[in-house]
Amino acid sequence: MNILTYVILFACILVPSIKISVADDSINVPQSMSDGETLVSKGGNFELGFFSTSDSQKRYVGIWFKKVPVQTIVWVANGVNPINGSSGILTLNTTGNLVLTQNGSLVWRTISRKLAQNPVAVLLDSGNLVIRNEGETNPEEYLWQSFDHPSNTLLPGMKVGWNLRTGLERKITSWKSPDDPSPGDISWSLKPYNYPEFYLMQGTKKLYRQGPWNGLFYSGIPDLQNNTIFGITFVHDNDEIFGRFTLANTSVLCINVINQTGRATNLVWVEGDRNWRIYMSLPKDFCDSYGIFGAYGKCMSTLTQVCQCLKGFSPKSALAWSSSDWSQGCVRNKPLSCKGEEKDGFFKVPDTAHTWLDASIGLEECREKCLNNCSCMAYANSDIRGAGSGCVLWFEDLIDLKQIQTGGQDLYIRMSASELEKDKIKNDEISVPTFNFSYISNATNHFSQNNKLGQGGFGAIAVKRHSQTSTQGLDELKNEVMLIAKLQHRNLKLLIYEFMTNGSLDFFIFDSSRRALLGWTKLLEIIGGIARGLLYLHHDSRLKIIQRDLKASNILLDSNMIPKISDFGIARTFGLDQDEANTNRLMGTYGYMALEYVVHGYFSVKSDVFAFGVIVLEIISGRKNRGFCDPYHHLNLLGHTWIEKNPTELMDDLVDGFVDPSNILRYIHIALLCVQERPEDKPNMSSVVLMLNGEKILSEPSQPGFYTGKDHSTITNYFPINFYVNSPNEMSNSMLEAR
Ligand SMILES: *[C@@H]1O[C@H](CO)[C@@H](O)[C@H](O)[C@H]1NC(C)=O
Ligand SMILES: *[C@@H]1O[C@H](CO)[C@@H](O)[C@H](O)[C@H]1NC(C)=O
Ligand SMILES: *[C@@H]1O[C@H](CO)[C@@H](O)[C@H](O)[C@H]1NC(C)=O
Ligand SMILES: *[C@@H]1O[C@H](CO)[C@@H](O)[C@H](O)[C@H]1NC(C)=O
Ligand SMILES: *[C@@H]1O[C@H](CO)[C@@H](O)[C@H](O)[C@H]1NC(C)=O
Ligand SMILES: *[C@@H]1O[C@H](CO)[C@@H](O)[C@H](O)[C@H]1NC(C)=O
Ligand SMILES: *[C@@H]1O[C@H](CO)[C@@H](O)[C@H](O)[C@H]1NC(C)=O
Ligand SMILES: *[C@@H]1O[C@H](CO)[C@@H](O)[C@H](O)[C@H]1NC(C)=O
Ligand SMILES: *[C@@H]1O[C@H](CO)[C@@H](O)[C@H](O)[C@H]1NC(C)=O
Ligand SMILES: *[C@@H]1O[C@H](CO)[C@@H](O)[C@H](O)[C@H]1NC(C)=O
Ligand SMILES: *[C@@H]1O[C@H](CO)[C@@H](O)[C@H](O)[C@H]1NC(C)=O
Repeated sequence: MNILTYVILFACILVPSIKISVADDSINVPQSMSDGETLVSKGGNFELGFFSTSDSQKRYVGIWFKKVPVQTIVWVANGVNPINGSSGILTLNTTGNLVLTQNGSLVWRTISRKLAQNPVAVLLDSGNLVIRNEGETNPEEYLWQSFDHPSNTLLPGMKVGWNLRTGLERKITSWKSPDDPSPGDISWSLKPYNYPEFYLMQGTKKLYRQGPWNGLFYSGIPDLQNNTIFGITFVHDNDEIFGRFTLANTSVLCINVINQTGRATNLVWVEGDRNWRIYMSLPKDFCDSYGIFGAYGKCMSTLTQVCQCLKGFSPKSALAWSSSDWSQGCVRNKPLSCKGEEKDGFFKVPDTAHTWLDASIGLEECREKCLNNCSCMAYANSDIRGAGSGCVLWFEDLIDLKQIQTGGQDLYIRMSASELEKDKIKNDEISVPTFNFSYISNATNHFSQNNKLGQGGFGAIAVKRHSQTSTQGLDELKNEVMLIAKLQHRNLKLLIYEFMTNGSLDFFIFDSSRRALLGWTKLLEIIGGIARGLLYLHHDSRLKIIQRDLKASNILLDSNMIPKISDFGIARTFGLDQDEANTNRLMGTYGYMALEYVVHGYFSVKSDVFAFGVIVLEIISGRKNRGFCDPYHHLNLLGHTWIEKNPTELMDDLVDGFVDPSNILRYIHIALLCVQERPEDKPNMSSVVLMLNGEKILSEPSQPGFYTGKDHSTITNYFPINFYVNSPNEMSNSMLEAR
């Protein structure tokens, strides 16, 4: 025995616990480790020991990358309770707990509830400090591990989420500051909702969410998928829900750090730079900030107007919206009818706080489930792999939606049936050729007046343009497009009209020389054509359509002078079993509106029949109902016709007479039947067509709807403006709203 061995033995006797040797990777009972000593994992990746931040006196026990020259702390034991000076001692006691003391007083300790037998604390090459019984390799049996108590850094292989059996939550928590490793209020955690997802939180406030796992990626970051550096896994079963990333190449160093600025940063060590380089930093953009916009808004950072309402929704407050305050979100254009849904693609799906999930059912059953529960607002496949599987339902308002350019998830959003009806017609049912604005603008030389009927590459066109000065709203224009599309009638094309060579009917019938040119035969043919057109609309088309604004100027004539009914701006479709409707918005053109419509707002096919009667009288007399001026009484054309002792006087005698006058008288008679006061007295269009063809006996007409004999005052009371009296204002082309 030489002197040296003697000294060592002596030391062992004097010091109650044995000091560990440098570069060891573990502590056994009853070893201890004091400030200045470290453990190094077997492969030399990580080191455990005492450290300080900047030049602080405060000492902490932590783990850092052994090979990285820039101090990179990945775990801290006593963040809340620093040691003053270098007197800290870390010990493993016999019950398998690490105890950190300073001068005899407890600073930090682990709590293990499992039975310890020859426990050992080992720093693994993954950066995980584990306490396990000797020889134990099953992680499930570890007495304790640092990966269960993360600091601000997510290392490869580390789970974030929940152990559902033990209730243990693993989440990443920021440091208070780069100098203070005590826990800050920013955290990265998994919310164990039915459709679970990760959130960046500030206390209990959501800052950002990654979107739920859809089998391939987190719905909000489709570009973060398995790559050459790391792979991503998400596990959701009866025992646990967690996410983690693993390295594809273990010689690469990669970490995720949550810092107090509210960012989650993925860093990769670049040896050449001798520094960490940011691989990805979340939230990625403005649109990722949670709650920037309210319900049913979608955000897309590439748009100039970053936030938009979902289709079928409008800003709750247009004012706030226009000043970029999107927080109030959007509301439905049409109230929910609890049927129907709309598919919209490429989404970071809405916040999953109120969801329901069944991974075993498919989309069809999912749809069924959603549509059968009126509080279900949307549904989607929970797993988009392959053809898609699983079902997730959203209840309550859809919030924090982000539209993603590529990837993302398809979402089926509940919509009112009427809203869908529109889109269906627009998108699926009928292929209406559409031309973009610039194309049409160019084709018509910027809607030049000279070029009102312009020449386009596809043939002659006349363009209907929504006029700034028109009282006709955008809704009416849309309605028109929908209806025309729905009609599927080759002669009814609107928006871009089929070129109607000869313009509209009023151009001809109210001008004596043009009338003369046409002759009675043509005029009566036109009446027959209008009657057949209306018959089609009312009874023969797929839908029962009431034109509601039938007038001479809305009848277009093609090169063969065949009339086409146009302008469906305020038309209404009726269910085939529906006969009348009520409106509190009076629209149409004075002079062509039936009494029951003007007075009570009732409209039905009989409202069009009335207008048809007026048009017939206008065609025959060459005079406008509304502009009609009789020096002897203040009556419109209808009233005049009714009290006229000799109806043939009404016939325009400038028109040549190759037609039997009794034929024309029959037309006047039919017209008077059409304009009778009571809707039920008015014939339907099938009867009218029969009568025009002389195939039906004509009954005696009762008085017209606008004529009440001598009592003019009652009429005055009926109408908001002088209706039956001549008015200098020509209003035939405008829509009027009741005041
Ligand atoms: C830390 O130790 C120094 C002297 O070693 C002492 O002056 C100081 O008050 C101590 N601080 C705390 C918080 O214990
Ligand atoms: C080991 O440390 C733990 C935690 O401080 C403590 O609860 C336990 O009593 C200690 N065991 C022994 C044998 O000292
Ligand atoms: C540690 O304990 C000793 C004796 O109890 C005391 O003299 C010394 O000041 C203590 N040191 C610290 C830093 O508290
Ligand atoms: C991604 O990588 C992980 C880990 O290698 C693997 O478990 C997982 O199946 C991969 N995911 C996909 C979608 O390929
Ligand atoms: C792993 O990464 C190292 C360092 O970047 C590289 O040299 C090595 O070729 C990679 N190995 C594989 C299998 O990609
Ligand atoms: C937080 O992380 C970002 C991104 O990595 C970094 O630029 C910033 O300096 C960090 N801030 C702090 C306080 O650590
Ligand atoms: C609809 O779903 C909600 C949430 O799951 C549930 O509370 C409610 O009872 C369901 N309603 C019906 C009618 O099924
Ligand atoms: C408009 O349509 C024309 C022809 O279809 C096309 O060449 C042009 O690029 C379109 N313009 C826009 C702005 O979409
Ligand atoms: C605009 O119209 C002119 C004349 O019809 C045509 O030559 C030109 O190609 C058009 N331009 C575009 C962009 O369509
Ligand atoms: C109607 O249009 C055709 C073809 O453009 C033309 O030949 C005819 O003269 C026009 N008819 C009337 C009455 O203007
Ligand atoms: C039209 O009216 C006639 C006579 O009132 C009636 O017999 C017929 O069924 C009606 N046609 C339609 C389609 O309503």
